[in-house]
Amino acid sequence: MSESKQAVRIGIVTVSDRASQGVYEDRGGPAILAYFRETLTTPFEPVARLIADEQPLIEATLRELCDEADCCLVVTTGGTGPALRDVTPEATRAIVDKELDGFGEQMRAASLRQVPTAILSRQIAGVRGRSLVINLPGKPKAIAECLDAVMPAVPYCVDLIGGPFLQTDPARVVAFRPKA
Ligand code: MTE
Repeated sequence: MSESKQAVRIGIVTVSDRASQGVYEDRGGPAILAYFRETLTTPFEPVARLIADEQPLIEATLRELCDEADCCLVVTTGGTGPALRDVTPEATRAIVDKELDGFGEQMRAASLRQVPTAILSRQIAGVRGRSLVINLPGKPKAIAECLDAVMPAVPYCVDLIGGPFLQTDPARVVAFRPKA
């Protein structure tokens, strides 16, 4: 497939027992979508999922979005903390080919400037095939705080794994491409 004709899809996965049961509204998924609509100038199709904190279900959802929906980027929200039901990092680790430790380090460092409880998030990121998977905490306000911290490196990472050429609005995020 020619890269220029590749459809740009972004997976958005809300992992929450309560939101998936309708106990409260999912605010994380829509916040991620709003972030990318404001930040990316490349047209994209969102592929959203709202699921419970069950490791096999999270793994299956991530595999589907990477392998079948061919999302170049899959962002999760929720399930990264220390509570018994928090298993999003374990599910992500189980499905990625390579972990990218710098993403978690950078997001926690940026979050720590906002809240001391940032160290409670075990969020990770990694690559599965041609997809970059990034965990975010469940709090809607954490979404922009964390994405702003890593977004400058995301388009180049997607280039390196053979994904589409993502462009950002430089007024919001300047995409850094070392070889450009
Ligand atoms: N990171 C940012 N940027 N902003 C936040 O408010 N909340 C923290 C942390 N990271 C937070 C944050 C808290 S209180 C928790 S418990 C962990 O993320 C894990 O959240 P999760 O289990 O909803 O993923």
